[in-house]
Amino acid sequence: MSTISLVTGANRGIGREVCHQLAELGHTVILTARDLSAAAEAAQAAQAAQAAQAAQAAPAIRAEPLQLDVTDPASVARAARWTQERHGKLDVLVNNAAITYDTWQRAVSADLAVVREAAETNLYGPWLMIQEFLPLLRNSDHPRIVNVSSEAASLASMGGGTPAYTASKVALNALTRMVADELRRDRILVNAVCPGWVATDMGGPGGRAVAAGAASVIWAATLPDSGPTGGFFRDGRPLPW
Ligand SMILES: NC(=O)c1ccc[n+]([C@@H]2O[C@H](COP(=O)([O-])OP(=O)(O)OC[C@H]3O[C@@H](n4cnc5c(N)ncnc54)[C@H](OP(=O)(O)O)[C@@H]3O)[C@@H](O)[C@H]2O)c1
Repeated sequence: MSTISLVTGANRGIGREVCHQLAELGHTVILTARDLSAAAEAAQAAQAAQAAQAAQAAPAIRAEPLQLDVTDPASVARAARWTQERHGKLDVLVNNAAITYDTWQRAVSADLAVVREAAETNLYGPWLMIQEFLPLLRNSDHPRIVNVSSEAASLASMGGGTPAYTASKVALNALTRMVADELRRDRILVNAVCPGWVATDMGGPGGRAVAAGAASVIWAATLPDSGPTGGFFRDGRPLPW
């Protein structure tokens, strides 16, 4: 039976590359995006890349596009129902979607509407995803949850700036700790991962390649049963909280 993985915000950036890398490992990847046509385009691109390698007998890539807006409870519930009906389980949930790297703001004067909006996607989105997909993860023999976070959320080295983004990722890290502990007995490994500074629309130019950032996420998505839970990692190495 195939390993079923779902990635949020997978039409571009790190999420899209995470889907490619998981599919190359043989996972059936549910490639989700707010816009179904963007998800379909990314899934087709993954399959086209595989077809180009067909001469090298690369394994068939299975990428299934699905509409999913993490801030829309109806969309999240629909995606969970679809996954239940089609696969009956979920093995890997990658909470990747995020917004608002607010370099233009300072905490002392931040627009709190922007701070709340960031939390809707970056915190409450992953939280709702975990709640809705938990019954499906419980049907897996090796369930994993990866919350894509950022070293910006490390309290140990935190300074000022990017207040909406940073606060939302700190809270995501706290969610990771709580959920990991609550699901320890269910053998569901839950970790927060920083992809590093990556050259995407969010990261801007100058960061490392998307493939390297995605690999940091893949490490946590493919942990063995003896792997850690409730940790914060980049490239497989612990980061200070
Ligand atoms: N790039 C970096 O240097 C860096 C560093 C540290 C951490 N990270 C983290 O890595 C993850 C991916 O970042 P990235 O650089 O790939 O960002 P990105 O290029 O800006 O892509 C963000 C993705 O999230 C999606 N998204 C936004 N709101 C959504 C919603 N409500 N529902 C579903 N999808 C939504 C976007 O979809 P649309 O196309 O529809 O907008 C897009 O696919 C994020 O969690 C980010 O915080 C990135």
